[in-house]
Amino acid sequence: MNTNEVPMAFTNTQMAPSEVYSDTAVRQFAIMSVVWGVVGMLVGVIIASQLAWPDLNMGIPWLSYGRLRPLHTNAVIFAFGGCALMATSFFVVQRTCQVRLFCPPLASFVFWGWQAVIVAAAISLPLGYTTGKEYAELEWPIDILITLVWVSYAIVFFGTIGRRRVKHIYVANWFYGAFIIAVALLHVVNSAEVPAGWMKSYSAYAGVQDAMVQWWYGHNAVGFFLTAGFLGMMYYFIPKQAERPVYSYRLSIVHFWALIFTYMWAGPHHLHYTALPDWTQSLGMVFSLILLAPSWGGMINGVMTLSGAWHKLRDDPILRFLIVSLSFYGMSTFEGPMMAIKTVNALSHYTDWTVGHVHSGALGWVGFVTMGSLYYLIPRMFGGKTMYSIKAIELHFWMATIGVVFYIAAMWIAGVMQGLMWGAVNTDGTLTYTFVESVKATFPFYVVRMVGGLLYLSGMLVMAWNVWMTAISGRSVLVPVPAFQPAHA
Ligand code: HEM
Ligand code: HEM
Repeated sequence: MNTNEVPMAFTNTQMAPSEVYSDTAVRQFAIMSVVWGVVGMLVGVIIASQLAWPDLNMGIPWLSYGRLRPLHTNAVIFAFGGCALMATSFFVVQRTCQVRLFCPPLASFVFWGWQAVIVAAAISLPLGYTTGKEYAELEWPIDILITLVWVSYAIVFFGTIGRRRVKHIYVANWFYGAFIIAVALLHVVNSAEVPAGWMKSYSAYAGVQDAMVQWWYGHNAVGFFLTAGFLGMMYYFIPKQAERPVYSYRLSIVHFWALIFTYMWAGPHHLHYTALPDWTQSLGMVFSLILLAPSWGGMINGVMTLSGAWHKLRDDPILRFLIVSLSFYGMSTFEGPMMAIKTVNALSHYTDWTVGHVHSGALGWVGFVTMGSLYYLIPRMFGGKTMYSIKAIELHFWMATIGVVFYIAAMWIAGVMQGLMWGAVNTDGTLTYTFVESVKATFPFYVVRMVGGLLYLSGMLVMAWNVWMTAISGRSVLVPVPAFQPAHA
């Protein structure tokens, strides 16, 4: 096989019933990704509104911004993103290894266990239980459940690779594999804590070491959860949807190793100008700058996969989702290294510029690549080849695109304005603006961000409707095995 090609799946005639893919977990995770996407983004819109109109906190502790914000981040990253990663990795690993999923009952445990983690988060965070570590807020009993689910996930994924029928391991699986191993490592190290009651613990690390470990975790959560896994999606679903081989397989391997090696060292850019030793901050800055190269290598590889097929962008909204996701990936991985430069960070840190950067990556890259991949995958899980309504995908694409642009443009302007206002001094050395003046000046941008978020959320609701219609219109085909036509999968 030419390694540039995504390995073909079995055709029906080649398949004995025992060899049919096991797709129950894929279907469940795909549906729940859409459901949690709606929930997580709804909470995003609520907290965006609370920042503009603080009265919306309504004096109710469990509806307050401080408790809903971690609920939002956990829901969108681990529930929306996590379910999409699990759905697509189980889908891709079977097709590229040409073998049935290893131990389907364990895959079922991964699904139900992960949903239990999400529900536990949705209850405990609004109640105010938190470790206070960003993106690792969940208390120790939930951390233990996460570990059990994650180890099972690794066993199913690598077990499937272990019994593959093709010698070559397709590059998408390398990215998924790195994501699974790195997240296990990050979770276990950063969640080391001493329990002090059923829902209370203290970190095993103290002071600046705690901060260092936390942002080694936080940055690599971005690098492996929000990037490597989604690059796995990119390397499978772009070639499939474009019906072209990967532009350069060699580049994808260089991309993989360079990205994996570099990400691990860049965490200290989150702690510039803190008590962290200066040399570690500089190291983080330098590695962040180096990170631009592998990131753009990967982006170019994805975009160039379309060479000779650019015309498909005109009337294929799924491909448009996938390619626009890469543009946002390129944008945020250019912006990130710039923000990691200490002098730039002196302006951007603590401002909404960071929030703009986060959402150009989160909405533009993670959101779009997920939506494009799910639009490819979901009909194939329900007996069809296309979604119920292509027009609805088109509508979703434009709502999401305009939504992201509103969101990030508002945050960029607000962020730079805040940074300049906070740093402005009069000739006598006093501050030109009070903090409250900067908050007042930010108000219109918070409203624009809320409108952008609402548009993005509405697009997600259009997707949920389309998925529902696709599922019910294809349901009759689900009963016999195989549940879909894998010849094109
Ligand atoms: C409708 C869509 C969304 C809206 C309206 C929204 C809104 C918000 C708001 C208001 C915040 C708090 C910002 C602050 O503290 O000043 C936030 C934080 C955050 N959101 Fe979203 N969000 C949305 C979607 C997403 C998605 C899809 C993801 C990830 C896949 C995401 C990831 C994050 C992260 C990581 C943070 C923390 C940022 C930081 O600490 O700098 N959001 N979001
Ligand atoms: C080459 C790649 C990247 C580099 C070097 C980078 C660098 C940075 C820097 C310097 C910050 C600001 C730290 C601060 O001042 O507090 C930051 C924040 C952040 N970035 Fe990136 N970034 C990259 C790509 C991405 C991507 C693709 C995403 C999302 C998918 C992302 C998500 C985030 C998040 C969530 C934060 C906020 C963390 C927090 O304070 O809670 N980054 N990044």
